[in-house]
Amino acid sequence: MGKVLLLYASMTGNTEQMADIITEAVQRRGHEVVTKTFELDPIDVEELADYDGVLVGTYSWDDGQLPYEAEDFYDELDDVDITGMIAGVFGSGDSFYDTFGGAANSMGDRFQEKQAIVVPKRLIVDLEPDDEDTERCNTFANEFCNLMEETIKGKGA
Ligand SMILES: Cc1cc2nc3c(=O)[nH]c(=O)nc-3n(C[C@H](O)[C@H](O)[C@H](O)COP(=O)(O)O)c2cc1C
Repeated sequence: MGKVLLLYASMTGNTEQMADIITEAVQRRGHEVVTKTFELDPIDVEELADYDGVLVGTYSWDDGQLPYEAEDFYDELDDVDITGMIAGVFGSGDSFYDTFGGAANSMGDRFQEKQAIVVPKRLIVDLEPDDEDTERCNTFANEFCNLMEETIKGKGA
């Protein structure tokens, strides 16, 4: 069983809905999920070392920017070595904007720069997740679990 940190920012609840669907899917695979929001439970990046995997969800803001509440985490990733950590990024955006899902993409780029093992497809949903998006969330969660389980097995845990 793996221990997963799911961290998200959601202003109007769309990314939160995605986080709920993903949490349930990861739990169905038998893993523990600790959920935190950037807004209410600011995390110390050092805490990442306590987890086998991290899932980060964020909505997009002005020109595809990260919301302010996720900025510290993004910057503080400079201070930790997360090489080989399993990560997945997701978020809601609005396809009306040219920078659709820009914040989730920035977060994904950041984790890749830091040599984490990132679920290749960033999961970006247009506004509120519909039935098809719910399936995409489940597939994303399963891909994340596959990567994490392979890594745990590889470590002989
Ligand atoms: C002022 C403002 C700027 C926004 N800029 C973007 C943007 O650049 N790219 C994007 O994909 N969505 C943008 N959005 C849309 C939000 O990301 C979208 O509504 C999302 O569903 C909100 O997610 P949440 O319900 O988790 O807060 C913007 C929304 C507002 C209000």
